[in-house]
This record gives sequence, structure tokens and C-alpha cells, in this order.
Amino acid sequence: MDNIKHGLISLLLFLDVSQTDILWKDQGDNATMNCSHTKGADYYQMYWYRQLPGETMKLIVFTRLGNNNHDFGDFSKEKFSATKPDAESGTFTVKNLEPEDKGLYFCAVSQPHSGTINLQG
Ligand SMILES: *[C@@H]1O[C@H](CO)[C@@H](O)[C@H](O)[C@H]1NC(C)=O
Ligand SMILES: *[C@@H]1O[C@H](CO)[C@@H](O)[C@H](O)[C@H]1NC(C)=O
Repeated sequence: MDNIKHGLISLLLFLDVSQTDILWKDQGDNATMNCSHTKGADYYQMYWYRQLPGETMKLIVFTRLGNNNHDFGDFSKEKFSATKPDAESGTFTVKNLEPEDKGLYFCAVSQPHSGTINLQG
């Protein structure tokens, strides 16, 4: 069923952060999500999370402005990529979409050295 569209849904939890709401893509496509915020240049760390149906939210990648060696942990760099072009924005890409990729994707931002992560879906 190559023509089924897969919705990658993201939620907006904080008013000062914005992100794509929903992406409809075909199997095999790459899906890129943007995230931006207006919390200020101190918030230059960005996290991308995924929650698959029936599962808990998992951190896929941690990005930091000025460091292009993003931390994907156990996740594959073949499957996911991220950019952090400036302090207040970033992108996240899920490559070669499969039905199992359908889920919620969140981005979050933080300042270094602050214990708080501002979750924004
Ligand atoms: C998805 O991204 C990969 C790596 O950047 C690229 O090789 C591939 O052609 C892209 N696929 C589509 C459908 O655009
Ligand atoms: C993300 O931002 C880029 C550059 O502004 C834009 O070309 C692209 O369409 C955006 N993607 C989505 C899914 O909104």
C-alpha cells in the first residue's frame, strides 16, 4: 500500500514555540519538521522526541548550536537527521518513512546548565 499517507503529528504545548502541526507523507518519503521558539538565544539546545502509539516518549536526538555532531543515542543516523542552524530554530527529519514511524514527534528547548527543559510539542 504505497499510497497510504502517514500522518506525523506534533502538538504545540507552549505558545512561544512553534512547530509543524501535521505532515502527510507517502511511504518512502522523508519528513522534515521545523521547530522554532522565541525564548531567546540562551535556549540553544534542542531535543527531538517521539512517542509511538502505546509507548512512552523517547528522546531521539539532542542538538546544540555550534555542535554538528548531534547526539542520536541508540537511534540510527541513517533513519534520522537534525539541523541546528541558529539558536531559535531547528529541523528534524525522519527518512524513508515506514508505517511504524507514525506517531507524535515533539521538540523541546533548553538553556545549558538549567535543569529545566521546555517541552513544546
Ligand atoms: C531522503 O533523504 C536521503 C538522505 O538525505 C536521500 O538520499 C533520499 O533521496 C531522500 N529521499 C527522498 C524520497 O527524497
Ligand atoms: C520548514 O522550514 C523550511 C525553511 O523555512 C521550509 O522550506 C519548509 O517548508 C518547512 N517545513 C515544514 C514542514 O513546514
